[in-house]
Amino acid sequence: MVRIKGIGAYAPKSELHNRDFERFLDTSDEWIFSRSGIKSRRISPPEQRTSDLAVEASKKALKRAGLSVDDVDMVIVATSSPDTLTPSTACITAAKLGMDKVPCFDISAACPGFLYALEIATGLLQTGKYRHILIVGVESGTKFIDWEDRSTAVLFGDGAGAAVLTVDEGPYGVLSTYLQGDGRLGELLKIEVGTAYPPGSWGVRMRGREVFRNAVVQMGEAAVKALQLANLKAEDLDWLVPHQANLRIIEATRQRLNLPREKVYVNIERYGNTSAASIPLALEEMLERGLLKEGDTVLAVSFGAGFTWASAVIRWG
Ligand code: ACO
Repeated sequence: MVRIKGIGAYAPKSELHNRDFERFLDTSDEWIFSRSGIKSRRISPPEQRTSDLAVEASKKALKRAGLSVDDVDMVIVATSSPDTLTPSTACITAAKLGMDKVPCFDISAACPGFLYALEIATGLLQTGKYRHILIVGVESGTKFIDWEDRSTAVLFGDGAGAAVLTVDEGPYGVLSTYLQGDGRLGELLKIEVGTAYPPGSWGVRMRGREVFRNAVVQMGEAAVKALQLANLKAEDLDWLVPHQANLRIIEATRQRLNLPREKVYVNIERYGNTSAASIPLALEEMLERGLLKEGDTVLAVSFGAGFTWASAVIRWG
């Protein structure tokens, strides 16, 4: 089975608390926390690139896996905030890690990007052509934010999570993956950077209420699909690890599965929405805190711009 041999995460040092926004935006700690569940988020400084975050997370993942950079046969980075359009952040990350001659590419699948990378890497490992694939979910999304737009500025944070995947005969690993998307709804949530927009007009644009409604439905659907594909029921789960975008969306997903609160991992209050980094960041934190144990059955589920949504069931170990 394809399994996560090592996982690592990194978040920039600098923290921005809800109260800090009160100084320059018409908002409040109370509004932000009650609507989203967020209390603070990490912000990468201008000189810290997305690839720098990816490097830190990848080093930890490799260390946990007991592997060196020479063991990695491919690098896949999921991000919506790359260093540059080209070269890919995967290539830049690989170079910074000291790798040479390794296939590397980015995928753009917004918040579920890490789960998209997981399915791609799982399929490739199953061909037998590769031994270890490094996948990274990383964002410096705060660099695209319009700091005068209170409806989006308060929601996002920066961070990175990485996993080294391998294939072996053991009982642990990826039991199912599920990917989905609907480009017709893309206008509801966008990072407006690219050939469609004139230079200088960057920004994250979101119709929050519509995104919220879709996220609740599709997170639930994705959760059920991954369980069906793994031939499991919600009661078989030890953990639900949802994308950390909004506490109310997480709560709706929990209710859809009828899970007790203690089986749902939540860290949104400290990181905000870190998009593609959110799930590996949560998994690493759970491991670090001794919550994630060998043999645990974990359902990860995510929803984001595109729209895209995805899920995976993993037997940890
Ligand atoms: N402070 C104070 N007031 C605000 C703020 C703010 N920071 N932001 C918006 N408001 C105001 C609005 O202007 C609006 O005022 P009005 O009624 O006078 O027009 C009012 O608050 C209500 O705004 P809504 O957008 O309806 O508030 P809502 O309850 O929907 O919460 C939120 C907004 C938190 C953005 C929510 O819609 C949400 O979480 N949406 C989903 C976001 C999401 O899930 N993203 C994840 C997928 S995408 C990804 O992760 C990249």
